[in-house]
Amino acid sequence: MIADGARRHFAAAFGGEPTLVASAAGRVNLIGEHVDYSGGEALPIAIQRRTAVAVRLRSGAKVTRINSGGTGGVLTIDHARLARRGKWTDYPSGVLDQLVGAGIEVPGLEVAVASDIPSGSGLSSSAALEVAFGFAVRSVLQVPLDAVLLALECQRAERQFVGVPCGAMDQLTAACGRRGHALHLQFGPIQVRAVPFAEQVLVVDTAVPRGLRTSAYTERVQECAVALAAVRQLAPDMPHLAAAMLEQIDRAEMPDVSRLRARHVIAECQRVRDAAAALSAGERFPGHLALASHQSLRDDYECSSRELDWVVEFAMRTPGIAGARLTGAGWGGCAVVFGDAGALAALEEALPGAYAKAIGHRPRAWLVTADDGARLE
Ligand code: GLA
Repeated sequence: MIADGARRHFAAAFGGEPTLVASAAGRVNLIGEHVDYSGGEALPIAIQRRTAVAVRLRSGAKVTRINSGGTGGVLTIDHARLARRGKWTDYPSGVLDQLVGAGIEVPGLEVAVASDIPSGSGLSSSAALEVAFGFAVRSVLQVPLDAVLLALECQRAERQFVGVPCGAMDQLTAACGRRGHALHLQFGPIQVRAVPFAEQVLVVDTAVPRGLRTSAYTERVQECAVALAAVRQLAPDMPHLAAAMLEQIDRAEMPDVSRLRARHVIAECQRVRDAAAALSAGERFPGHLALASHQSLRDDYECSSRELDWVVEFAMRTPGIAGARLTGAGWGGCAVVFGDAGALAALEEALPGAYAKAIGHRPRAWLVTADDGARLE
């Protein structure tokens, strides 16, 4: 268990036992991509891959001494001089910055981190680290926070400190996920509703390095802001882009790319509502919605890649596969595949070799089910 890993790293780095261990989950979004920062809706699951944070208070200087993975030594974060350093410690530093900003006295801490969420693959290892760290530190200081507020605190850490203009989907899922359920998330204003989801899905990591993902993401956020400003010329009270009607998007004056992005947002939110309704009615995930989502992300949002398209097309040729789509930000990262358990197992077996032959390097693939979000271990 990953919590045992955090305890072992803790003992190796600092000696003895931590006061407590908290963990948070990675996520796979079933549908509802690139809509959270436009006030839309999404339907993610937390998965069995987790990040655990072991913590103990220490006397003396107000610094966090932190180790990850048992290797790389112990790094020091000075609470009085929190600054972005372009390293993994920016995530805990960003959360500390939020705590200090909220007027919480943070004494010295010893922290060890363990994770089995592959970083850089689009399974939200960064959100899981933020949420697990925030949960562990707030618990040890006895200033707990409700899971939704904790997630929003971590989202602010990522936006304001790390500098990624992300929505709240990843942190909400890392914090609020529920075993056997998908989360129907609404982002304007925030609402979290669990809907039954007992299926297995296959996650395929295209293993393409991150590249320009952050800059392209920021560009999409800006294109959507332009679309919203244009719609507000017609409808000044429009709260966010996802609340607009297709007809308003078509009528408003905006650059063609913004119109394409906005059309994706409106259509994708409808697909989320349809998928959530199907799951609530006890049906299987509607695979055709996943395919339609992928096409919209590929053509209108332009955030797919050759490798992701290849995975979706290959999956759809396998008997018993119902649907597939890119999941997460795109431009590489992961795809999620829906279908019968037998078909998913056959695909898990067949895909890596075929992908390596076609693309030139090996992908990674995991069968996952919906799991719990943040918890004390
Ligand atoms: C990243 C961001 C999320 C969301 C997705 C795309 O994972 O962190 O907020 O915008 O991309 O749906």
